Amino acid sequence: MEYFYKLKIPGMGHPPGFTLPEVRPFDGSQADTDSWILKVEDLMDKKTIAFFKKECHLIFDKCYIFFIRAGCSTNIHIDGTARDANVWAVNFIQNGIGSKINWYNKTKVHPGTSEPRCGGSLIDTWEEKDLTLARTLTVNHDKLLIRTDAPHKVINCSDNSRWCFSFRGNSRLHKIKSWDEIVKSFKKYI
Ligand SMILES: [Fe+2]
Repeated sequence: MEYFYKLKIPGMGHPPGFTLPEVRPFDGSQADTDSWILKVEDLMDKKTIAFFKKECHLIFDKCYIFFIRAGCSTNIHIDGTARDANVWAVNFIQNGIGSKINWYNKTKVHPGTSEPRCGGSLIDTWEEKDLTLARTLTVNHDKLLIRTDAPHKVINCSDNSRWCFSFRGNSRLHKIKSWDEIVKSFKKYI
């Protein structure tokens, strides 16, 4: 199984009146990133929500907006902790063409360190030196199904600020689904 799949799906529409959040001034660091949590209907138009429900039998219950300034990158992390990691996300990426996503092999020697993130939940993070690289994706496609319970890092080596709209499955209906099951539900669009 791969860590990501390019999705052949229609583009995402935003609801009327949607604007991108305001970004704070550049903090001068290599880790200048920001994130926000939104309700799905505040970011995705009704037609696109209906498409996922009908075609993939998926209902999203929240979404993140991730911002990474040009030249900056995230730490290595999973989306959650070893006990409760979110397994997958559908990402719509704007201006991130040429950016990279690295996935790393997990090790028993380095279980990761739990740190607070956007919304107050915990995520496990790692130092690059403690893991080995498993796969790199150079983003040349704006719609992706990605695996988020394997250690990963986003590197914005493009010339533009990268915006990612990242949709997460309804926890009661879909969170417990394995990566393989989720990939199957997108079969028609991979
Ligand atoms: Fe992530």
